Amino acid sequence: MSDQRQAAARIRELREAINEHNYSYYVLDAPTVADAEYDRLFRELQALEQQHPDLITPDSPTQRVGARPAQGFAEVRHEIPMLSLDNAFDEDELRDFDRRVRERLGEEDIDYMAETKLDGLAISILYEQGLLVRAATRGDGSTGEDVTHNVRTIKSVPLRLHGKNSPRVLEVRGEVFMGMAGFLAMNRKQEQEGGKVFANPRNAAAGSLRQLDPVVTRDRPLQFYAYGVGRLDSKQSLRTQAQTLERLRDWGLPVSHEGRVVGGVQACLDYYAQLSARRADLPYQIDGIVYKVNRLDWQERLGTVSRAPRWAIAYKFPPEEAVTRVLDIEVQVGRTGALT
Ligand code: IVH
Repeated sequence: MSDQRQAAARIRELREAINEHNYSYYVLDAPTVADAEYDRLFRELQALEQQHPDLITPDSPTQRVGARPAQGFAEVRHEIPMLSLDNAFDEDELRDFDRRVRERLGEEDIDYMAETKLDGLAISILYEQGLLVRAATRGDGSTGEDVTHNVRTIKSVPLRLHGKNSPRVLEVRGEVFMGMAGFLAMNRKQEQEGGKVFANPRNAAAGSLRQLDPVVTRDRPLQFYAYGVGRLDSKQSLRTQAQTLERLRDWGLPVSHEGRVVGGVQACLDYYAQLSARRADLPYQIDGIVYKVNRLDWQERLGTVSRAPRWAIAYKFPPEEAVTRVLDIEVQVGRTGALT
């Protein structure tokens, strides 16, 4: 075999191994290699690609950081609008939601998919022929900003879908967020280096995604969980939200492991109580639970009003409150005599 063909074969092997390890780690939550071995594979790939630059492809695991956009953030129109959710703030409001669903459908036994409501920002990621081609923020729901260069740097976001049966077109939707540990470590580092300190993980995630320089975003501990689909060329075979999430996992997209199918409103409330109790122990902040009618044909029958679906609701947790004692106030007199 020629040197070139040998290199091409090894590069393919390394990329497949790295992608498979990523899938185990980020999607299955079951790491298959030690960090040191992973780093060794990565460095071997980098070295080979350096010797054979013509063999570099945009979906190589080494190519997460590309050029910054020359014109700032371009606009992206969402062909299928990105909806928001109605809220329920207490048990009665959740029961009202369930009653309306049952009445509209004329059905009594409703399964709901219960999902954590991650506190980050909604994002749409488009895959064509299995390759990540574009990522956009939600914006106002119909037009968002192109943040492809930054979303590519999020390690749990696959640059190429997993497995042989990836769809021709898949627009996945989900939340970009920052876990608590990553957030605290990042703020500590920012403080030491005299950089911007963020008020909470949500602001940190938003600020990190709206960077023009992808090198900055790469060093921010952003994570991604998928929770739905926009465009998809083979929707016909999916019957429920639970199946949709399962399929997204098969395609290599990380999905939260907290989701449950629950039957009826009482089970929704039980799940809410269970998760409330564990809320502070989760590695990321959630501000509620999203309940979605599990059957997709029923979702379609229920439809959408203004900008929220009739088939889903966010049952919010009460805000986490804390008491703060004011220790001292310093007053300064400015040049004009103004007190600050
Ligand atoms: S579904 C069809 N599922 O909440 C409705 N949203 O308040 C579209 N969010 O913009 C959203 N976790 O940023 C959905 N499991 C989840 C979610 C989730 C967080 C966010 C999302 C959305 C906002 C609406």
